[in-house]
Amino acid sequence: MTVIEIDGLRKSYKAGKAVDGVSLRVERGEIFGIVGPNGAGKTTVVECASGLRRPDSGTLRVLGLDPQTNRRELLQHIGAQLQEAALPDAIKVSEALRMYASFYDRPADWRALMDEWGLADKKRASFASLSGGWKQRLFIALALVGNPEVVFLDELTTGLDPSARRTTWGLIRDMRKRGITVVLVTHFMDEAEALCDRIAIIDQGRVIAEGGPSELIAKGRSDSLEGAYFALTGKDVA
Ligand SMILES: Nc1ncnc2c1ncn2[C@@H]1O[C@H](COP(=O)(O)OP(=O)(O)OP(=O)(O)O)[C@@H](O)[C@H]1O
Ligand SMILES: [Mg+2]
Repeated sequence: MTVIEIDGLRKSYKAGKAVDGVSLRVERGEIFGIVGPNGAGKTTVVECASGLRRPDSGTLRVLGLDPQTNRRELLQHIGAQLQEAALPDAIKVSEALRMYASFYDRPADWRALMDEWGLADKKRASFASLSGGWKQRLFIALALVGNPEVVFLDELTTGLDPSARRTTWGLIRDMRKRGITVVLVTHFMDEAEALCDRIAIIDQGRVIAEGGPSELIAKGRSDSLEGAYFALTGKDVA
């Protein structure tokens, strides 16, 4: 079943086009990667799909709902960790989870979630006192507290050390095991290759390639994707 359908999405800001005709399909239960360089339009796509930004044109359906006209209902069924997410410095881990749970009609048991995601020892820690890896873990738990069917993760592992990145990868795979559809925005091709069932590469507001990770790598070796592949991986095409 298709859970996200985006057709011909366009969005400009004052400075110019950010998204220039993106079409995508995301199927239930997959980890779908959106990969591309800085300024490619990735965050804008995710913000439009989660109802946080109004597209200029195009059709969007998430779980059959229009993110603009059915925003309230949609927000009950999705979870999001956004690129520039922040919480008040003084808020405690348990308070943040309880507060987020109160936003939903059918929240998960936030105490159980805190235990499951290894946050119980940190429950009285303030947000400001958490290291980057623990903040990310908290953001994952917050994205899940509404029992979402679809989760958007934007640059979840940027800034984490290699071991925290690996741990986060495990957490993302756990989401898929629970049947949650994950949209993962990342700069890292290795991360997308390791985690994603399918990937769309976005550059200058357009999808320049789409497919399974191995398919894309094979293509990257053979054609004009070379430049994009290099930009994303820093590796020359073998
Ligand atoms: N709120 C905004 N106001 C004006 N311009 C914006 C805004 N948000 C994004 N842009 C511009 O739109 C383009 C696409 O930005 P977007 O944040 O969607 O890209 P991105 O692929 O997520 O980039 P990054 O990898 O750096 O997060 C960029 O040129 C950016 O400067
Ligand atoms: Mg972004």
